[in-house]
Amino acid sequence: MIAPACARRLLVALSALAIGLSPATAQEDERFMPRGGKTLFLELADTPRAAELREIAGVSRTEAEWRSFLRERHKQLAEREVSELAAYLAVNLPLPEGAVQQAESSGDITSALPADGRELAWTQCQFCHSLFTSYLTQQRDVQGWRSTFLSPFHRGLKMTAQQRETFARYSAINMPMKAVDVPAALRY
Ligand code: HEC
Repeated sequence: MIAPACARRLLVALSALAIGLSPATAQEDERFMPRGGKTLFLELADTPRAAELREIAGVSRTEAEWRSFLRERHKQLAEREVSELAAYLAVNLPLPEGAVQQAESSGDITSALPADGRELAWTQCQFCHSLFTSYLTQQRDVQGWRSTFLSPFHRGLKMTAQQRETFARYSAINMPMKAVDVPAALRY
């Protein structure tokens, strides 16, 4: 006899496989979670996005240096947003040589930006168990989140070192969520 929770997980995984999609596209999407660095960057409307991306693409700064830069440049950002965007930029910049030019010639400069923590959590963490109990309700610091990748059952996760670090820093800043802010369909 399979326990109901396991049966449901299996069903979620199988239906996602059956339609050839990640769980992300099944019903809900990740927008109920706090914005990750890529989204925060793209939504900054006070300066032209493409120009700012070109300006910073080759820059390497620490998280603290990005925080000062962002507080100065984008004063409307809330402190949590400053922290998240600074963490994202510290891990993901500089972009690989030529990434911005390539994105520009494809007509979408924003495609040069790697996935942020919210996108990674949504696409990588709900194949085998619920997002709610193993992620959204967990409180951990950056080291705590890094250590999830050391468990034997997580070693096979296909995430690069950069993605793991982006994810760990996002999660330490933005988790846990309040249950009421999570769509009812995901609260299991
Ligand atoms: C390949 C399947 C698989 C994927 C994908 C997966 N997990 Fe897990 N995870 C497991 C298994 C198996 C367990 C242990 C049994 C359980 O709790 O269901 C587990 C347990 C956990 C636990 C509790 C134990 C611990 O290590 O602290 C957390 C937290 C967790 N997962 C987080 C995550 C996060 C975050 C992601 C995405 C980055 C993720 N998992 C992706 C299989 C997976």
